[in-house]
Amino acid sequence: MAKKLAVIGAGLMGSGIAQVSAQAGYDVVLRDVTEEALARGLGGISASYEKFVAKGRLTAAEAEAALARIATTTDLDAVGEADIVVEAVFEKIEVKQEIFRALDKIAKQDAVLASNTSAIPITKIAAVTERPERVVGTHFFSPVPMMQLCELVRGYKTSDETLARAKAFAEEIGKTTITVNRDVAGFVTTRLISALVVEAAKLYESGVASAEDIDIACRLGFGHAMGPLATTDLTGVDILVHATGNIYAETQDEKFAPPEIMRRMVDAGVLGRKTGEGFYTY
Ligand SMILES: NC(=O)c1ccc[n+]([C@@H]2O[C@H](COP(=O)([O-])OP(=O)(O)OC[C@H]3O[C@@H](n4cnc5c(N)ncnc54)[C@H](O)[C@@H]3O)[C@@H](O)[C@H]2O)c1
Repeated sequence: MAKKLAVIGAGLMGSGIAQVSAQAGYDVVLRDVTEEALARGLGGISASYEKFVAKGRLTAAEAEAALARIATTTDLDAVGEADIVVEAVFEKIEVKQEIFRALDKIAKQDAVLASNTSAIPITKIAAVTERPERVVGTHFFSPVPMMQLCELVRGYKTSDETLARAKAFAEEIGKTTITVNRDVAGFVTTRLISALVVEAAKLYESGVASAEDIDIACRLGFGHAMGPLATTDLTGVDILVHATGNIYAETQDEKFAPPEIMRRMVDAGVLGRKTGEGFYTY
């Protein structure tokens, strides 16, 4: 019998997780608050499968079968059958906690309850449930069908069994995992990118090198696919000021303090690609 997965939130990440899981043979229930959000999510999945078929990476029959394994619902009670629940709603702690409180009542006793949060401590999400040992972070990367990594995050009370089941799930759907053994701010990936972005912005701010040259150094010197300042523009200067600021607030480690240049860019509405201007002009 196919394993059952529930995904809460049919946005960019939730629909991507549903897509790759259905392709790997999971029966998926995708839950969002409105029919419009579900239709958008399912439309995106269908269009993505079509692209894979066009590229010859999936047959039309496989795509059709995978799509048929995804059911959509606005009813949270529908997740009661799932072996694994992955929450991928807005990055707001109150919204996530409300969902985990409800999941605690609805989900199967032995279900793994995972959150796709990029930065909220798993321990704070787990603490609203009566079963924090079943709660774990599964931090997938965007776009989920293309990106290989899943960062597994152990909350303070996450059990070894839960971590092992989350790892098995991520691997079954084709991902490579890394394990974050302590629930630190920024986990491993956001810690690393934050340190690099902050240093790159400081070098730029103090006139040591141009944005282009700093990015070229990382691409050609270290083999990075994209330089840190171009990455910041793509992600959003505001998002990175927020992310690095959170890590700084928690660690008091100066290397994560958002540089003045980035704080002023946010004040000026210079947020990167989405506003047409960041470290580069678009
Ligand atoms: N976008 C990224 O690159 C990225 C990467 C890694 C992790 N994340 C994390 O993944 C999570 C989701 O991000 P996203 O980019 O997919 O967001 P998104 O805005 O694209 O989608 C969020 C979805 O959640 C739905 N939602 C809100 N409240 C809900 C509820 N109570 N029940 C069900 N659905 C609800 C919304 O209607 C929306 O469809 C966030 O925690 C984010 O930090 C995002």
